[in-house]
Amino acid sequence: MSSQPERRLDAATLLTRLLPEVRTRARGLLGDLEGEAFVARLEQVHFDVVEPLERLFAERTDLEALVRDLVGVVLDAAADRPLPLRVLDRRREVDPGWFQRSRMVGYACYADRFGGTLAGVRERLDYLAELGVTYLHLMPLLAPREGPNDGGYAVADYGAVDPRLGTMADLEELAADLHRRGVALCVDLVLNHTAREHEWARRAMAGDPAYHAFYLVFPDRTLPDQYERTLPEVFPDIAPGNFTHVPEMGGWVWTTFNDYQWDLDHSNPAVFRALLATMLALANRGVDVLRLDAVPFLWKRLGTDCQNQPEAHLLVQAFRALTRIAVPGLLFKAEAIVAPEMLVQYLGAHDRYRPECDLAYNNQLMVLLWSSLAARDARLAATALARLRPAPASTGWVTYLRCHDDIGWAVSDVDAAAVGAEGFAHRVFLARFYAGLFPGSFSRGALFQETPWGEARTAGMAATLCGIEAALDPGDSADDVDRVDDVDRVDGAELDAAVRRLETLYSVVFSFGGIPLLWMGDELALRDDRDWARDPAHAGDNRWLHRPAMDWAAADRRHSPGTLEARVFALIRELVEARRSQLALRAGGETQVLVPDDPHVLAYRRRHERSAPLVALANFSDGWQSVDLGLLAGAGIADPQHVHSTRGRLDLGQGRLHLAPWGFSWLTSR
Ligand code: GLC
Repeated sequence: MSSQPERRLDAATLLTRLLPEVRTRARGLLGDLEGEAFVARLEQVHFDVVEPLERLFAERTDLEALVRDLVGVVLDAAADRPLPLRVLDRRREVDPGWFQRSRMVGYACYADRFGGTLAGVRERLDYLAELGVTYLHLMPLLAPREGPNDGGYAVADYGAVDPRLGTMADLEELAADLHRRGVALCVDLVLNHTAREHEWARRAMAGDPAYHAFYLVFPDRTLPDQYERTLPEVFPDIAPGNFTHVPEMGGWVWTTFNDYQWDLDHSNPAVFRALLATMLALANRGVDVLRLDAVPFLWKRLGTDCQNQPEAHLLVQAFRALTRIAVPGLLFKAEAIVAPEMLVQYLGAHDRYRPECDLAYNNQLMVLLWSSLAARDARLAATALARLRPAPASTGWVTYLRCHDDIGWAVSDVDAAAVGAEGFAHRVFLARFYAGLFPGSFSRGALFQETPWGEARTAGMAATLCGIEAALDPGDSADDVDRVDDVDRVDGAELDAAVRRLETLYSVVFSFGGIPLLWMGDELALRDDRDWARDPAHAGDNRWLHRPAMDWAAADRRHSPGTLEARVFALIRELVEARRSQLALRAGGETQVLVPDDPHVLAYRRRHERSAPLVALANFSDGWQSVDLGLLAGAGIADPQHVHSTRGRLDLGQGRLHLAPWGFSWLTSR
């Protein structure tokens, strides 16, 4: 909300003034060796600290005093950092690409739904080790408000763990266990908003002006009405509008999400300072990756949709530079579910590279995989993915198929038109297809937040959306009355096809480049939770369909040959294994989308400067398909070598590579 200030404070001058006192304090607190390393990091990033802070806050506060204060916060955190975590930092500074390795495999789950409590999660680590997991994302686990809390995204206390899950000490022990096993821990940091029960909000309601200024409050509807003209609604059904009248606050509070989630005023440097301290405190408990929740929403500007504003990026750049001075091993992951042309900026790809997040969800890939599966056609995916700018070499995507959120059908009109489709019609088709409302659909998911004009988002577990649920139980259940009744007949063939769809989708997730992230239960083909609405705190939000409790009886069946769970678990394990040895699949390498002569096949080449290329192909149809070997030769693979595939071998013939129905293949050259 600030405009460019007249006077630009020179970062180098500021550093020169600051350095002597910082060096003395740092050496005093950390010893000569670590103290000097701290100073070196400050020198290294000072530009990345000062420039964004100046643009964000110089109009509102004395920049030099702010920088001095924030460096003090960072130094205190460095001094508090436990030794085992400093050892990890040391390793990661030596090996900054540690998270880009092809052996990285992520797993995301709710602590309570997976293990009951944090202590319970610790007891289940062997299960994750069996899968080959090296990155564990636990869904929001800080103390939320009582009652509805948006799955933990309404935080009442950043300094405490949800008491139902355990304590901060439990979190530390879990992190230590994970580190011993070589697993990184990712935790959510909800920084766009707090719960209205957070202490900051309580103090604001009690009349403390300093905390009132933490939130965006308007005395009447004048400005809210102006903002609303260009603001979309995130939850139009369950939380319409973006402002909530709160008499104790003297007006309308900005609430992008639910009415109990109050947006913070990020133009206030005191908010920045408080969140910086929160990040450092979590890192000092052993958190390796902070998932920056809803990061596109941080900055508001009249006349815009208040997403992806340049200042939102500046905030993350400043947070990153500052946290890195104390905790060089900490990563940021952007949760930016935005249009493809807005996405890669969260990885720092601006006019020049400006270090920002290390990881970002590849929402485009996720949407396009589901789109290809429903349409049985990969051309739209190829077109849109080819347009996606590459991730900067020191960063990586998080590739995924499902998560705790709905699927928003972010297919652009431009991409659709490029393959002769109509964007709106295709988006409506996808929502209806996955809700089982389209003739011949194999999916049994649900519509989420349907708009009056017929577009909707999608809820459902991957196994359900791939047709595994329909294949196992063709009969309509009570709540299925609206569904088409000509679902495919259940037999082995239908289940086979559905399992293959799941495997092939995951084959892309595991080979497109980045950290593949499994959503809890997909490795066992867990289906939708039909009892989701029983919990009154979940009522109305059918995203709970795809947030089932872990079915440990099903998990036990992974060792019983012939069961669905054994089959799917083994398929995922094989993907993990096959990926591990492929240097070409390291994050930071490049992905080039290829154009095969078969519209059903998605093909791309992975390359890393130190490896032979790897080509991956996926067949999005229920028939055999094939591609000309010239495609592979053109991608640098003259003599294709099998790496991994549906059938465990290469099917070559008549100058073509053949792909089984819903099948995939990974190839490399000698
Ligand atoms: C993110 C979360 C989503 C939540 C929202 C508000 O988008 O993934 O579940 O509702 O932020 O915190």
